[in-house]
Amino acid sequence: MKLTAHRGLSSLAPENTLSAFKKAIQFGCDSIELDVQLSADHIPVVFHDQTVNRCTNGQGKVSDLTWHELRLLDAGLWFSDEFEGEYIPSLAEVLSLAASKKININIELKTFPGCDIDLLCEKVALVIMESEIDDEQLLFSSFSTDALLCIAQYAPTIRRGQLWQTIPYDFLNILQQIDAYSVHCDYRFLTEQQAVKVKSAGFQLHCYTANFPELVKEHGNWGVDRIITDTPQNFVKSKALEPVLDI
Ligand code: G3P
Ligand code: MG
Repeated sequence: MKLTAHRGLSSLAPENTLSAFKKAIQFGCDSIELDVQLSADHIPVVFHDQTVNRCTNGQGKVSDLTWHELRLLDAGLWFSDEFEGEYIPSLAEVLSLAASKKININIELKTFPGCDIDLLCEKVALVIMESEIDDEQLLFSSFSTDALLCIAQYAPTIRRGQLWQTIPYDFLNILQQIDAYSVHCDYRFLTEQQAVKVKSAGFQLHCYTANFPELVKEHGNWGVDRIITDTPQNFVKSKALEPVLDI
């Protein structure tokens, strides 16, 4: 199985920051996952939660704060003093880093209640078009099937993956609707039977967020292609990315 660094190398640097993404690249990961949403003035920013409360020194919803206001926040101190001065990156900044370092990005489209999905997809697609990144380096994912349908209109050549906690019974219909490349599901709820069905239908299968190899010992045999993890260092001996266990 391959590894994707969840929110960057988020066990060693504050999640969804340039430091976390650079650490993942230095470590040798070929892929990083990030979360994207819009600021109040419609700039795609890389941030997981609906509010800035947990991961910055500010307060309030991301969607109520302008890009300028978000940029003034410290997004590193909550993690450790070493990261004081870290800021919330824009999607454009991360794409620029990824284009120069040739790393793949799994862009998770975050849709909180009240989110304007069309505007989110339009702005994200625009930033991608203006970047130097190759479409092949990108993979969209979302828990929102509507967001995946919408991004397919704005950026049809970029692959799409449906996020589920558990894979539903009618998964095939949904995957066909969005012309999906992949399924991303919680490793804790995946069964061998589901994995086999997804793989025989021809989709890539990614599991989040497993931080120890023992937790996904069987998943490789079931056909899982990729583990999304905060701790790639637990799965490999060194930068050479040699598996510690037979994953
Ligand atoms: O993309 C996998 C994972 O990131 C989905 O959940 O809440 O960590 O964005 P979350
Ligand atoms: Mg995510």
